[in-house]
Amino acid sequence: MVADTESVPAALGLLAEGFRGARALIVGGAGGIGAETTIQLRALGARVVIASRRGPEPAAVRPPAADGELAAIGVDLTRPESIRALAAWVERELGGLDILVNTAGVTRTVPLRAIEQLDDATIDEVMASNAAGVLRIIRDLTPALRRGQAPCVVNVSSVAARTGVGSNVAYVGAKAAMDAMTVALAKALAPEIRLVNVAPSALDTDFAKGRGPEFIARTIAATPLGRLATPREVANAVLAGARLLTMTTGSTIYVDGGRHL
Ligand SMILES: NC(=O)c1ccc[n+]([C@@H]2O[C@H](COP(=O)([O-])OP(=O)(O)OC[C@H]3O[C@@H](n4cnc5c(N)ncnc54)[C@H](OP(=O)(O)O)[C@@H]3O)[C@@H](O)[C@H]2O)c1
Repeated sequence: MVADTESVPAALGLLAEGFRGARALIVGGAGGIGAETTIQLRALGARVVIASRRGPEPAAVRPPAADGELAAIGVDLTRPESIRALAAWVERELGGLDILVNTAGVTRTVPLRAIEQLDDATIDEVMASNAAGVLRIIRDLTPALRRGQAPCVVNVSSVAARTGVGSNVAYVGAKAAMDAMTVALAKALAPEIRLVNVAPSALDTDFAKGRGPEFIARTIAATPLGRLATPREVANAVLAGARLLTMTTGSTIYVDGGRHL
């Protein structure tokens, strides 16, 4: 194949310039994947707002004033009124939204075979934070995204949705719901808004408590590339989805070393 030399600077330009001044909201931005994504987006000049339960009430939050600046805001994805308050803040303070990254979520390790140990509270929280809350936040932010520049939603899913192996059955189901909703929303919101899913395999973050060395050894053995993914590799895929893959919508990009194969 003949290399298209023109395409190299074009691709670099999309990454180097595509984020400058972009209004980016990263839900879960203080977590392992979110923090790495935030660092890269700020370095590329985006105005980044990170949202999670620990952030301050919207009324107390001033938006990032300059390129590369950061603001933190509170939202609880399990509470619809909290999501509505965040969306109202985005309308009022940002006037529109260019990039939405959904990388929040919780889980708890309950072995798949121990289904009787999966309690109602865990099912509800896992479903709300990984699936229903993500649908609600996309719905409530759609008007702001419609006014954005090249608006894109990147959802951080999991290879668990594909393999059926994950921290618990509710988590696998919630991420599968996220994948299916991304397909539906990609059709519904085109051509104005693109949606991309990034699906990592296990990372060495605090996400799933209770994973021991045995879990890590098993995961590595089942991964063709023979190691865990890193937050930076996932963040790279988030950035690519947001600005480089301009003809991609409704797709899931695996960052899993071939774990799904
Ligand atoms: N780490 C892995 O092995 C792995 C593998 C595959 C997929 N993933 C996916 O990657 C995403 C991020 O994982 P991570 O490793 O970065 O996890 P993490 O470090 O635990 O970060 C998760 C973030 O979600 C926020 N959060 C949790 N519940 C929330 C709620 N109800 N409302 C708003 N924010 C909430 C947390 O902040 P607060 O506590 O302040 O709310 C935290 O910032 C998750 O969606 C996960 O499913 C992770």
